[in-house]
Amino acid sequence: MTDNIAPRASDSFSITRPDDWHLHVRDGDALRTVVPHSAAQFARAVIMPNLKPPVTTVAQALDYAARIRATLPSGSDFEPLMTLYLTDDLNPDEILRASATRSGGTAAQVVAVKLYPAGATTNSAAGVTDLRKTYPALEAMQRAGMPLLVHGEVTSPEIDLFDREAVFIDTHLTGLRRDFPELRIVLEHITTKEAAHYVRDAGPNTAATITAHHLLYNRNAIFTGGICPHYYCLPVLKRETHRLALVQAATSGDPHFFLGTDSAPHATHLKEHAAGCAGCYTAFSAMEMYTEVFDTANALERLEAFASFHGPDFYRLPRNTGRITMARRPWQMPQAFAFGEGSLTPLRAGQTLPWKLQ
Ligand code: NCD
Ligand code: ZN
Ligand code: ZN
Repeated sequence: MTDNIAPRASDSFSITRPDDWHLHVRDGDALRTVVPHSAAQFARAVIMPNLKPPVTTVAQALDYAARIRATLPSGSDFEPLMTLYLTDDLNPDEILRASATRSGGTAAQVVAVKLYPAGATTNSAAGVTDLRKTYPALEAMQRAGMPLLVHGEVTSPEIDLFDREAVFIDTHLTGLRRDFPELRIVLEHITTKEAAHYVRDAGPNTAATITAHHLLYNRNAIFTGGICPHYYCLPVLKRETHRLALVQAATSGDPHFFLGTDSAPHATHLKEHAAGCAGCYTAFSAMEMYTEVFDTANALERLEAFASFHGPDFYRLPRNTGRITMARRPWQMPQAFAFGEGSLTPLRAGQTLPWKLQ
């Protein structure tokens, strides 16, 4: 019709710099690929401790932070926020040492402790076998105000894979909530209506992160046009009703919910494998994907609170002061990135995305 359509006001907008409250960056050469991607998107990220061996001491966490910082582009002020991996025998003294990093004086802060039920996900073999054994550490965390981050899935083989999050809430989380009413708990990467409703109704000491891929896709994505390993993560994508409940939670303005990509890089040959690894690589285009979700839900005005306010408020950290700009400018996702000796295939490789971080 006409070739000079004026751009709409909503074709670009700016928000306070966001943070990623759940991120895997791995170690060694992998850091060189993925850390700059996250640093281009976010001011801070909570770094998961599921290395081999896991990060179980403050000394290890601070060393790991230094290795991450060493791969930042010059001039970047990206801040890795470190976590400890909860084991059956984590000493409460380690919690006190972690807590002390939050008052400054150390090169990085240790801001939380991560609970992986043993065997639930990637590198979780050293995880918790019996929650009771961790009660001394949880008591110390409750006293120190240190958040517990939870991979909320049961591991019993008799429980259907798609039910493991909902069953975890009933069999473990409600008991934990009752025994530690003041403990600050983040249910990570929630995937179900049950989790969204539990967290919404759970009071101010419970929160949840939501990934971009769980907001964009349901479980059909894993099986459309053949088996698609790049859409396989844990907890696994669920039915459409659950995706809609997550979109509702994320775009509701409710401060219980905030951004956590769970970007989880695995080399392409280990994803495209007879026993493909769980994890979606989304760090390169995280804000683009979240913006697409909020735009589709007609909720762009709620993106800033989800991406930039609710996380720091829950963690009792200052909100960022800088700003980012998102523009409606279609671009094509690269097919792959160099990744150590191999390559790394991002989610949506080769596809066109409608929004771009400027
Ligand atoms: C994560 C990983 O690869 O470290 N994988 C995943 O599918 N989400 C682990 C995790 O967050 O559970
Ligand atoms: Zn997890
Ligand atoms: Zn994760």
